[in-house]
Amino acid sequence: MSRIIAVSNRVPVGGKSSGGLAVGVLAALEEYGGVWFGWNGEIVDGDMPDPEIERRGRVTYATLPLNRQDFDDYYNGFSNNILWPLFHFQLGVFSYDRRQFEAYCRVNALFARKLAPLIEPGDLIWVHDYHLILLASELRRAGIEQPIGFFLHVPFPGVDVLRALPPYQAMLRGLCAYDVVGFQTQRDLRSFEENIAQQDFGDAMLADRRVGSKGCDVHADVFPIGIDVAGIKRLAQEAVGTPPIARMADSLHGRQLVIGVDRLDYSKGLPERFRAYERLLEQNTDLRGELVFMQIAPPSRTGVRAYVEIREELEQTAGNINGRYAEMDWMPIRYLNRKYSRRTLMGLLRIARVAVVTPLRDGMNLVAKEYVAAQDPENPGALVLSTLAGAARELDDATLVNPYDIEDVSEGIMQAIAMPLAERRERHRAMIEALERNDITRWRTRFVDALSGC
Ligand code: ADP
Ligand code: F6P
Repeated sequence: MSRIIAVSNRVPVGGKSSGGLAVGVLAALEEYGGVWFGWNGEIVDGDMPDPEIERRGRVTYATLPLNRQDFDDYYNGFSNNILWPLFHFQLGVFSYDRRQFEAYCRVNALFARKLAPLIEPGDLIWVHDYHLILLASELRRAGIEQPIGFFLHVPFPGVDVLRALPPYQAMLRGLCAYDVVGFQTQRDLRSFEENIAQQDFGDAMLADRRVGSKGCDVHADVFPIGIDVAGIKRLAQEAVGTPPIARMADSLHGRQLVIGVDRLDYSKGLPERFRAYERLLEQNTDLRGELVFMQIAPPSRTGVRAYVEIREELEQTAGNINGRYAEMDWMPIRYLNRKYSRRTLMGLLRIARVAVVTPLRDGMNLVAKEYVAAQDPENPGALVLSTLAGAARELDDATLVNPYDIEDVSEGIMQAIAMPLAERRERHRAMIEALERNDITRWRTRFVDALSGC
């Protein structure tokens, strides 16, 4: 079997990670082993050094720090202040800076130069996410001929949105340099095809899952990322008896737990979710004192202004709601800005009666899938899920809501709280089946098979 070289901007060596990419790639590499190349999360003042190599279990990590200027311009700038909002349809947050695009090109080229010496004949290279769209063309320039695939964890915008990005053609050409390009949903694939079809670099044609035009001939397909269903079930079961989960359960005093778990990101619809919960308390006086809403939101990309602003807004909103409704012995919202171990997190998901996953746009959203897998099938909780999350395609037995519509989210939570056991079981069974049909192993094997077929 070929060795897989996974490449992503961030590589969380041994640390807890609160991003879907890290969780998915680790689960995929742990099974058969491989190399994981990328940024170690550190910043240096001088030039980018060669990668440090460290083996942990079946995974070999090859990681390097980013130079301070590149951290500002490539990571905070082009990746997270330009591509992220654009790919999440948040044009109000998007602004453009040509210098940051230059930094993006520079870092993609640097990554290729540092990675090339590690690549051996027979390897398959699997690049992840929007930070590294130009990596394949740079690797080819460095003489690498092995198959190179790209998987986009986030949504792909349609023609009208993508064209707001001045170098959109360079990005599309960059994608065309891959042998395989994978998306989370059909909708993302369609957007890619439309973008290529309207390109000036040739007449597009589409046959047999190949998106082609002059200068672009790529196998493009949908590979929805899955989770390790059995592993999460096991973790969640084990967690229930552990001290943190037992303490948390005690602290509820019989109240129902409604949970949200998201990186602190404006794409996750958190202010709207807080307001929906407030509306629920406003309109249902009998629920006051009966529910606890716990939102876990570890800080993310704190060097980007929009993330600082959303954090301030949420602190204020949570404070206002608690100020308005709290009693001496009841706090309506528990708002926690920290990371947890996988076990503790899965345990918290298991004891929650309702999970609210309401991103304004999300490539997939693994938390929605993890919540379903963590439930006790005999007495499962109910999932309230945004129609604008990729996960809604597979989990259409959740209570689906429009995250922009506060009434809809509030009614969705109400419906989930009141859902009879038989209906919860029935929906849970259907959702677990969907997760088992397309788990993390299937995601990896389908992608790797497509890549090795090149
Ligand atoms: P994104 O990739 O945008 O962050 P996802 O929902 O797809 O969104 O993935 C988030 C991943 O990070 C999930 O696997 C989730 O369990 C994990 N995670 C989220 N918050 C925390 C936290 N506070 N502590 C540990 N892991 C977290
Ligand atoms: O796709 C989600 C994602 O953007 C990953 O690419 C990323 O690793 C994760 O969220 C966490 O973000 P960051 O690496 O910027 O902390």
